[in-house]
Order: sequence, then structure tokens, then C-alpha cells
Amino acid sequence: MAKVKTTFFCQNCGTQYAKWQGQCNACKEWNTIVEEVIQKPEKSDWKSPTSPTKRTSVPLRINEIDNSKEARLDTFDGEFNRVLGGGIVPGSLTLLGGEPGIGKSTLLLQISLKLPYKTLYVSGEESQKQIKMRAERINPENNNCYILTETKTQNIFKQIEALEPDIVIIDSIQTLHSDYIESSSGSISQIKECTTELIKFAKETATPVLLIGHITKDGNIAGPKILEHMVDTVLQFEGDRNHVFRILRAHKNRFGSTNELGIYEMQGSGLREVSNPSEILISKKDEELSGNAIAATLEGMRPLMIEVQALVSTAVYGTPQRSATGFNAKRLNMLLAVLEKRAGFRLGAKDVFLNITGGINVDDPAIDLAVVASILSSNEDVALQKDICFAAEVGLSGEIRPVQRVEQRILEAEKLGFSTIFVSKYNKISLKKTVIKVQLISKIEDLVTELI
Ligand code: TYD
Ligand code: MG
Repeated sequence: MAKVKTTFFCQNCGTQYAKWQGQCNACKEWNTIVEEVIQKPEKSDWKSPTSPTKRTSVPLRINEIDNSKEARLDTFDGEFNRVLGGGIVPGSLTLLGGEPGIGKSTLLLQISLKLPYKTLYVSGEESQKQIKMRAERINPENNNCYILTETKTQNIFKQIEALEPDIVIIDSIQTLHSDYIESSSGSISQIKECTTELIKFAKETATPVLLIGHITKDGNIAGPKILEHMVDTVLQFEGDRNHVFRILRAHKNRFGSTNELGIYEMQGSGLREVSNPSEILISKKDEELSGNAIAATLEGMRPLMIEVQALVSTAVYGTPQRSATGFNAKRLNMLLAVLEKRAGFRLGAKDVFLNITGGINVDDPAIDLAVVASILSSNEDVALQKDICFAAEVGLSGEIRPVQRVEQRILEAEKLGFSTIFVSKYNKISLKKTVIKVQLISKIEDLVTELI
């Protein structure tokens, strides 16, 4: 094996060292020194057999550039396509992150089993037998999917050269290992080097590569932040492991919007696409219960009806507890303060618990009004009618603020059979005739008089 020249650089100030040390002498930062390759031997990493290595690019006028066929590979998974912006772009690198056990391997294996192209699924985490067992639960009839258990990038490229797959999936980037770097798999320098080799392969052969990445305990993708800069698309697979719903979001997408969202349900036979989420997220109980309210939210371009549940009870201990699942706790405190100050509810000595059903995290401000309504309903122990819903933001002075794309929310509520939707008076609505009653309110007192 030819010798590779590596050296150590501080990631903070760029000072170079001959060997690793804990603290940088120059900037005094700890743990910033990382091994980097400075010179590789000839014929080292990916080298495409057909294309000449020294291809130079010439500048073109922007309107001379041909963009007519931005062909995307259909993944045959509606939710995955939606999040990617219409399919996989050839030659792109996509990174999928998520907590352990959330279903990353299941999702990508399921997609590779659906594809009619030749796919290579490289796993450094499970054996071929284990993957076969999983594949049998999902879709046993696919003959285009090849499984390779390997962690060394040089060997992977050798297999790729022999197989010439149309798409490559790597599970996971943290298990890969390149011979050119001494440090162990999963270290910053290994991840960087392996990703660089994969990018070179993807761009030269126009083969898309999907990578699975682990996340750290604070939810970031493990490894250097630069990994997220290097790839074209960063997807996050999230959800509560105890719930069946999984949400796929794009955090970064060079080829599409990052607003889109895919929803899956984990079943015994893999992940099922949920194309009409509203119907599942609302519990279909017959009786009306106090503390429940339904919000017409938007996730990306898609309207989503979500049920909010609140429980308000007298605090048993001295300090009242406030807790929120799926909703920002600071925002909950703010809404409670608004209710106290503007509508005169004494909530200071009450425990307030708030839960968004389905284990979904909502950051659409339009959910505010439903949160307030559910708190009022629980506090007064008055059940709201089952067929009303809410879509508005609540401001600090108790004003009901308009939200974006309110008409889309109204139409979704109407489609699902709601009879009334509460929205802000300041929203401009140009819908001609609706079956659903659109109740306009301007301040929080209006809501109180309407509901209680
Ligand atoms: P996995 O894809 O291994 O997670 P990750 O790669 O993100 O660590 O997901 C494993 C979980 O999914 C595991 O707890 C079992 C569950 N599962 C199902 O419920 N149904 C299925 O068909 C499969 C394949 C897995
Ligand atoms: Mg896995």
C-alpha cells in the first residue's frame, strides 16, 4: 500500500501540527485538531473507468446552459419523492439522519426494494442474512437489489465497478473506513474522507448515493458539520419511537424546497406511506371531551388537521407544573400569560399539561388558537363541539393574528366535514361560497364568549 501523507490541522484556526494533541497552541481551543489527508497515492480512491480523469469545465453563459432534462429517478414512494422535490437527482448525495431505531435502514431498504433499477445496498451494520430477513418482511419479490456487507471504501468501489449499479445506498457513513486515514471509523477525518470519495464517485458517474447518518444525543448528525455542507440534501427522519408515525423532513435541499414533509406509519411489514394524514391524526371518538381542540395547521404545502389536548388542574404542590409535548413550552407559558392578563383566567395556581396527539412536533403558529381553546375547555370543563376547528396565531395583547394560506386550511377543514372554523378577522379571505362557517374573531375575549 502506497504511503499517504496526512497531517493534523486545527479546525478552528487552521494551525498545522505533525501529531495530534488535545489543545491547539495557537487559539487555545480544545479538541479541534483533526487528521487530514494532504497527498494521496496515485490510483487511490474512486476513479471511473470510462471518463478521462482530467476533465476541465468551461464557463458558459447562463442562458446557454441546458436544463431541459433534469431527469430525476422516481423512487416509487410518494412521500420520499415529495420531500426530495420530485425524485432523486442523478449524481446527488443525500444524507438521511435520525435516532437509532427510528427506521432509517427500513426506509432505505424498502425504497431499494421498490426500485426497478439496479440498486446496491451496502451495510456496515447488519449481515446479509439479517437484511434478507428484514427484506422478507417488506417486499420479498425484488431481484434488482444487491446487498453488500463491507465497510472499506476501496472494496466498495471495487464492487461498484464490477456491478455498475444505478443507485448506491450506504448504511451508515459512520461505519465506513478508508485505508488512507489511520483513525478509526466514525472519526471526523474518516467521515470526511469517505464522503469526499463518495462525492467524487457520484459526480463522475452520475450515480445517486444515499447515505444513512447517525445522530448525536442533541439531534445533530454525528460527525463534522461540514458533512452537511458536502452533501446535496440532508433529510431527517423523526418521530416518537413509541408512536407509529414517522416524519421525513428536508433540512437542506439543493434541488427542491425544504418545506415539504413526508409521513409514514411503521407497520409490521415496513413503513406505509400516509397520504392523507389528517384523517388519522384526529381521534374519531363519539363523545365530546373537555380539553380537546382541533387545529388546521400546514406542514410544508400540505394542510394537516391536528388534535391538541390540554389538562388544567389545581396544582397539588406549591409550584404549578407546565409541560408540553410536541409544542414549545415557552410558547405555552406565553399563551397562559395572555389568557391570564387579557381574559382574566386565574391560571397561576394551576398545573397545565399540553399534548399534541400522534407524537408530532408542530411549529406552525396557527396552532395557537387551538391551544388556547383546549386550555379554556379543560379549565372550564366544557367540551368543545367535535366539528369545530381553529387556525390563527395569538399575539401578546390577546389579538388574534392572521396566518398564511388560510384558504387552504378552510378548504381542508370543509373537506373533512367540519362545520365551523375560527380564523382571524384580519385574514383576507376571498373564498366565494363555503359550506363551512368561517367565524372571524379579533381578540381572545371573542373566543371566550363564543366557546363558553
Ligand atoms: P431500523 O430501520 O433498524 O432503524 P435505524 O436504522 O434507524 O436504527 O428500524 C428498526 C425498528 O423498526 C425496529 O424497532 C423494528 C421496527 N420495524 C417494524 O416495526 N416493522 C418492520 O417491518 C421493520 C422492518 C422494522
Ligand atoms: Mg439501521
